[in-house]
Amino acid sequence: MQIELRDIRKTFGSVRANAGISLLIPPASIQGILGENGAGKSTLMKILSGFILPDSGDIIMDGSRVVIHSPADAIRRGVGMLHQDPLDFPPLKILDDFILGRRGAVFPDRRKAAREFRQLAAQFDFDLDSEAYVDTLTVGERQQLEILRLLWFGAGVLILDEPTTGISQPQKEKLFATLRKLADQGMTIIFVSHKLEDVELLCSRVAVFRQGELVGSAEPPYETKSLVRMMFSRDLAFTGRTSVPPGGPILSLRGVSLEALRLQIRDVSFEARAGEVIGLAGMEGSGQSVLLSACAGLAQPVSGRVRLGENDVTGLSYHAFMKRGVAYLPAARLEQGLVAGLSLADHFILSEGVGGIFIDRGRAQDLASDRIRTYNIKGAPSHQVESLSGGNQQRMLLALLKESLSLILLEHPTRGLDIESTLYIWSKLRERCAQGAAIVFISADLDEVLQYSDRVLVFFSGRVSPPLPAEGLSVEKLGGLIGGKGWDVLASAAVAHG
Ligand SMILES: Nc1ncnc2c1ncn2[C@@H]1O[C@H](COP(=O)(O)OP(=O)(O)O)[C@@H](O)[C@H]1O
Ligand SMILES: [Mg+2]
Repeated sequence: MQIELRDIRKTFGSVRANAGISLLIPPASIQGILGENGAGKSTLMKILSGFILPDSGDIIMDGSRVVIHSPADAIRRGVGMLHQDPLDFPPLKILDDFILGRRGAVFPDRRKAAREFRQLAAQFDFDLDSEAYVDTLTVGERQQLEILRLLWFGAGVLILDEPTTGISQPQKEKLFATLRKLADQGMTIIFVSHKLEDVELLCSRVAVFRQGELVGSAEPPYETKSLVRMMFSRDLAFTGRTSVPPGGPILSLRGVSLEALRLQIRDVSFEARAGEVIGLAGMEGSGQSVLLSACAGLAQPVSGRVRLGENDVTGLSYHAFMKRGVAYLPAARLEQGLVAGLSLADHFILSEGVGGIFIDRGRAQDLASDRIRTYNIKGAPSHQVESLSGGNQQRMLLALLKESLSLILLEHPTRGLDIESTLYIWSKLRERCAQGAAIVFISADLDEVLQYSDRVLVFFSGRVSPPLPAEGLSVEKLGGLIGGKGWDVLASAAVAHG
């Protein structure tokens, strides 16, 4: 089946998830959809499989325009989707799950279905026992079952959204072999991923998404470099590195392991020295936030030691970290950093404790005016924080930081900000480094990571690289690592450097 998408648009509130996507997918091919988290891939797939309706735009299947109202509607038209998050499975036998939802199957012929199931499973070399229970299956096996079911339903288009997350390497190889076979048989496959390696290995063509737009496409032989540029690069005006010569250790992690929901980080060691900036790079959800929380005392390591200067602070609270000169600026400025409903002056009262228990309004007003000038904030002391733009909220957060800080932890410090605000924020952070603070920050923007970090830790699928000097990295190399390429070389490099 050929699928054509014309100018598909979908917004959620102020987020443009799909900002006019046009794409032609030929039959008997494996179309890759590549893009970092939040690029709009899943949204487009949900539109194509009837889970959500687009705000506007057309879907044309084999030459005729269709409106896909629901998932059942999509199945009727031959479009089947394997989800990113495995759905909850009722306690059913495999065969019953297989039969479930088949149109017209009010009284399914179990024997006939069992025979067809076995034939299909054998065709793809899937080792599934139709009488076993679904909740005993691994993620990879559930995927196999789901593929068989969609084929049995007569799917001519198969959509897979991040299917290689949570399955083993042999299962992945089997999945890829199956998909190739299906494409050879004439099926249209749409394979959504943020993993460069998988896409390069499997797809006959690739479309790259970024911030809701289709920003480029490629065919084999793929050039990893150009795919990475399309995925990540904002091309910041490079202002040159102005690193401060690093001083003594401010923060050190030794063999730290962390466990978060569905994520384990093993044995991370690094040191942030006075004046140094450490960037944490990776796809969102690869562990950077958990590690940053551990640096703030907000997440407790299951093993390993955390030190601030000479002091072992393993297991101490966020409050104890703060008292030792640590500040943590989360990504959600209005939810966690600033208090909606309070004015700028109120924020200075809260953070500085101006006037002790007897609040000195006059002094708070003066302090606010002073900082608003210093930090170039477009707003008055009496304005409420939520009336500020994103860039001004971020400036406000920086203005609220205490004078004497040794460690500043930031999540996406310039996300959504214009270039001017970005440069300004970093000039202020650099001042802090010059005064002897260390900075650890997370960013999804590779140009920002490369431009402002001295060293970079890369996160991929539960792995954390040793600290890599930013000077030796390029957007291509860093983007490759984030997408899972180049780790073999890295491991040996880490061994070589002890
Ligand atoms: N149901 C929803 N409600 C609000 N925002 C959404 C919803 N679904 C997606 N988004 C937003 O739309 C953008 C694109 O998301 P998504 O299509 O899931 O991206 P991807 O699959 O490429 O990671 C993101 O900013 C996401 O937060
Ligand atoms: Mg997605």
